[in-house]
Amino acid sequence: VRKTWAISGVALHLDLDGKPVRARLESVLREAVSSGLLPPGTALPASRPLAEDLGVARNTVAAAYAQLVAEGWLMARQGSGTVVADSVRAVQPAARSAEPARGPRYDLRPGSPDTSAFPRAGWLAAARRALNTAPAEALGDKGDPRGRPELRQALAVLLARTRGVRANPERILICSGFTQGLDLLCRTLRRRGATGLAIEQFGLQDYHRIAEDAGLRTSPLNVDSFGASTRELDNTDAAAVLLTPAHQFPLGAPLAPARRNQAVAWAAQRDAFVIEDDYDGEFRYDRQPVGAMQALAPDHVIYAGTASKSLAPGLRLGWLVLPPALVEDVVATKALADRQTSTFEQLTLAEFIVSGRYDRHVRRARLAYRQRRDQLVATVTRHDPSLRITGIAAGLHAMLELPAGADEDAVVAEAADHDLALLGLRRFSVAPGAHPPALVVGYGTPPEHAYTAAVARLIATLPAV
Ligand SMILES: Cc1ncc(COP(=O)(O)O)c(C=O)c1O
Repeated sequence: VRKTWAISGVALHLDLDGKPVRARLESVLREAVSSGLLPPGTALPASRPLAEDLGVARNTVAAAYAQLVAEGWLMARQGSGTVVADSVRAVQPAARSAEPARGPRYDLRPGSPDTSAFPRAGWLAAARRALNTAPAEALGDKGDPRGRPELRQALAVLLARTRGVRANPERILICSGFTQGLDLLCRTLRRRGATGLAIEQFGLQDYHRIAEDAGLRTSPLNVDSFGASTRELDNTDAAAVLLTPAHQFPLGAPLAPARRNQAVAWAAQRDAFVIEDDYDGEFRYDRQPVGAMQALAPDHVIYAGTASKSLAPGLRLGWLVLPPALVEDVVATKALADRQTSTFEQLTLAEFIVSGRYDRHVRRARLAYRQRRDQLVATVTRHDPSLRITGIAAGLHAMLELPAGADEDAVVAEAADHDLALLGLRRFSVAPGAHPPALVVGYGTPPEHAYTAAVARLIATLPAV
């Protein structure tokens, strides 16, 4: 059994088979400290939560810490637990320039799932099997730009079952995350004569830039508690609209049924397209999943999914389910961009899905994130029942509205001073306009053992009402 946990964003692995756990824990920590992975001053998790995460006795962790304190690697600091000893500096190798700078100790920015909970053992087993059984042609240069048939087949079944997508493997294209998917779509639409893309007024600024870089002018749609204001589509010259129907990013509402119909009717009438960014569709907590909009009009809705929330953004795996009219052109754009996405990663994901590991992982992750969400809501409400926290029915982030008149940037800066990374709503506004001060809290990001402390820091930096 291999357990993975993280300290200050550094993932550490512990094999629980064989040798005594305490000795293994000591050697993993000794190695991490002596190699400079955990620099002097880095705080170690308290023994109780770490023991819980690893499924070992608390005494085992405490004894390992005590041994490393005795050896001089760690020190017990009054009031702040166990940290990497200052004296380790002397034996550290010269700073390696390629090493990324240490990030903030606590991170509640949206965007990433808990990468310390990545199912490494399952992924490795899937990779091994995929590599053992891959045909030689999977290594060649004549691959289909749409991607490996094994993965397109596995996704067609998975998406139909879990998201209600009407998917045919022939119309699925594997890309390097949604980021590349959007880029391919924008370039293709531009080449077909499109001049504009409608986008939601709140969203990722990068997506707005991708569209403009491909030569499309963007027209922002207002967003309210029913999602994007699709009525405004009629006032644009857009050939497509980019929406986050399951869980508006970042405000959090699902797109209301009437608006879904409106967008689809607009697309049918104009011969336009809806790009459905289903980035966190697997994570819905309180009600039945909101199905994909694509099923309403497969000829006009481009369904886009990604492994970035359900598995890890570093995989760079995403998929488009294309309307028949677009397949040929998007495939041509993909071939020009990079021929095809890495076949090994595709074959591994296919195996991971077909073997049932993907379902099991998502089920486990959903439960864990739901508990984090409940903890966040309970802690905020206990602190100040007048604070509103919204967009919480799904996903890995929530909107925390700050008291009227609060300065969003000041709260973010104050948090940074306390080693907590936060992002305000302003960062996600793609068009000028006033909005109430709010934080977009990514509760999926921290490793499990750091979550409670991260939420406590968040509360400590909230302005007094
Ligand atoms: C709104 C939204 N869409 C899509 C993605 C996924 O992008 P990618 O698949 O390129 O990692 C994210 C990830 O941060 C996101 O926030």
